[in-house]
Amino acid sequence: MCVRRPGCVAARGVTGTTYTQLRCATQLADQHPQLFNCNVMVAERTMMTKGDFALKRIVVAITGASGTIYGIRLLEALHAAPEVEVHLVMSPWAKENLAIEASGYSESQINALADVVYDSRNMGATIASGSFRHDGMVIVPASMKTVAAIATGMGDSLIGRAADVTLKERRPLLLVPRESPFNQIHLENMLKLAKMGVEIIPPIPAFYNQPQTIADLIDHNTMKLLDHLHIDNELSARWQGLAQAKQEARR
Ligand SMILES: Cc1cc2nc3c(=O)[nH]c(=O)nc-3n(C[C@H](O)[C@H](O)[C@H](O)COP(=O)(O)O)c2cc1C
Repeated sequence: MCVRRPGCVAARGVTGTTYTQLRCATQLADQHPQLFNCNVMVAERTMMTKGDFALKRIVVAITGASGTIYGIRLLEALHAAPEVEVHLVMSPWAKENLAIEASGYSESQINALADVVYDSRNMGATIASGSFRHDGMVIVPASMKTVAAIATGMGDSLIGRAADVTLKERRPLLLVPRESPFNQIHLENMLKLAKMGVEIIPPIPAFYNQPQTIADLIDHNTMKLLDHLHIDNELSARWQGLAQAKQEARR
């Protein structure tokens, strides 16, 4: 049996296995299936995504602000990380926006990127309770309505409730607010949340790394989200210093 191979031992989530080891093991198995008993590998990976201790559990909410693609890109990146179990909830207005923003994704394709998908009206969902442990919640994009709901403790949808719970349990909460311009209410709500430790990561593009496409801009924002979730990634170029940047700008 393949348990003799170090990769498989890592994939089993033996105590002390790091996320990097786990990622290496599963990637190795994908690249060299002949080295592993693939059925066992797949079974073990499936087992890992069903609540093993070595997992990172991330809740992703997509709301009705413009920029559904930011949420989709994060889901793609999390889906590609074998150590992450993704819990997804989309608001009704997120679904409306999806239909008009030409992301190229259908709702079912988005759902397929998550391990668990919730209806936003389901107040009995696991993520509505603090006893359900996770490693962080990201609302991307976050509408001003949802930001206001969180700032006022209004848990009348699963997204507002899950965010409220994330705050009360003092777990990481990341918001990608999308509106322009912001009015005083938006700014005050975000300041209030930032003072409570909420990470406000707006989808404001950077141009110092010479983005060529819209995908480059989205990836840069997604990299920041993954960094704040402490998930290894090289989705976008990182700052290498001014000399390097000038050299690249001359190319
Ligand atoms: C096409 C479209 C684009 C929208 N863009 C934004 C936006 O960028 N930011 C925002 O705060 N609200 C935006 N809205 C309004 C929200 O969808 C609306 O406030 C909704 O109630 C948000 O609910 P939710 O946060 O539960 O998704 C947009 C609505 C539509 C139809």
